Amino acid sequence: MATVVVIGTQWGDEGKGKVVDLLTARADYVARFQGGNNAGHTLVVAGKKIILHLTPSGILHPDKVCLIGNGVVVDPKVLLEELDRLQAFGVAVAPERLVISAYAHVIMPYHRLLDLAREARKGHSKIGTTGRGIGPCYEDKVARTGVRIHHLLDEASLRRRLEAVLDEKNFLLTHYYRQEPVDLEAVLDEYLGYGRLLAPFVGDVSTCLNRAIAENRAVLFEGAQGTHLDVDHGTYPFVTSSNTVAGNACCGSGIGPTKIGHVVGIMKAYTTRVGGGPFPTELFDTTGEHIRTCGGEFGSTTGRPRRCGWLDLCVVKDAVRLNGLGSLALTKLDVLTGLPVVRIAVGYRCDGAVLDGLPAEMERIERCEPIYEEFPGWEEDLRSVRRFDDLPAPARRYVEAIRDHVGLPFSIISVGPGREETIVVKDPFAS
Ligand code: IMP
Repeated sequence: MATVVVIGTQWGDEGKGKVVDLLTARADYVARFQGGNNAGHTLVVAGKKIILHLTPSGILHPDKVCLIGNGVVVDPKVLLEELDRLQAFGVAVAPERLVISAYAHVIMPYHRLLDLAREARKGHSKIGTTGRGIGPCYEDKVARTGVRIHHLLDEASLRRRLEAVLDEKNFLLTHYYRQEPVDLEAVLDEYLGYGRLLAPFVGDVSTCLNRAIAENRAVLFEGAQGTHLDVDHGTYPFVTSSNTVAGNACCGSGIGPTKIGHVVGIMKAYTTRVGGGPFPTELFDTTGEHIRTCGGEFGSTTGRPRRCGWLDLCVVKDAVRLNGLGSLALTKLDVLTGLPVVRIAVGYRCDGAVLDGLPAEMERIERCEPIYEEFPGWEEDLRSVRRFDDLPAPARRYVEAIRDHVGLPFSIISVGPGREETIVVKDPFAS
């Protein structure tokens, strides 16, 4: 079956953008199924850079159909701005090439306000959210008080939805968070305007995908964030508000689990995290600084410096189990060039026991001491290497050690930011 799901195995920012861009060349359809504009993929095409937050990066390939599934939370203003930026970039997006699920939930102004106000009030215990209203929007979805894309197309039903929730939202905003209230008529006006602009793109993503799969067309599912930001399986409460694991490609797009052919886990050659939460292999020294600088580890959505540390295989092995991974894609191996030694955490010591995965309790994760294996580093520039056997011996040993500990093959090894700076070991669509 020509369906591939791409998932981050760590805490997001694993370099999924580049891998998705590579695999998009093989796909006919590219679908997003969770998250919203908390994600950000930086793409470099013909020397020009564009960052996409909502639209699948397949949109840059003129012959691909991109889909935004029901599991995504859509900020229509951000989406429309993105379409404008694409137009200025030379990519005109016709409705035949972008389908937005009528079932997807909409990020409303009060979601953004509540996200920011809540984080500000939490002080030191804040999650460090992206402030885009993601959590409050998913809360409303589950509370059955959300606004869906189809509501934007019908004034009477949008008015009813807003009348049902705005009293409570404004009470919270004004009395608890001391913010200005949101005006129903202004929101109604603004969002009906977005609805008019987005109407040509609204469609039935589930039917479209199932038809494509039945016709044996190649479909790529593009995960956002990473496994350990999953609301169930991640380092709760320092997580995002959606399920980021591969299983949600089904719920978030409207296909059945029998339709998934292969799952690729993207792992960076080291670990990073943005926002709060435990991070056992975090580095606070010059090595961490080297990784941040050489890896350009600054958020593409918020610009925040990312926390950096050694590769943690407990994190990756958990991701293998949680996603049913079939292969791995290793990214940013080149960033480790120049370090005298490189380390991999292969387990933790915690409360007198040895663990090989993250425990459930936040306090216990904070007490986990990584057990490291150490390898000699390498000085050679890797960016021109195109075959695994041509990597310098220490880099090869490092990759082999990861493969042996994790027990999965690598389908892709990325040795630089450019599309061509890649070792393709095996095409995931041929798996
Ligand atoms: P939210 O998704 O904005 O609610 O943020 C919740 C947590 O997930 C915060 O720690 C964010 O930094 C993190 N997060 C959300 N999206 C991404 C992403 O695309 N990459 C990395 N971290 C993310």
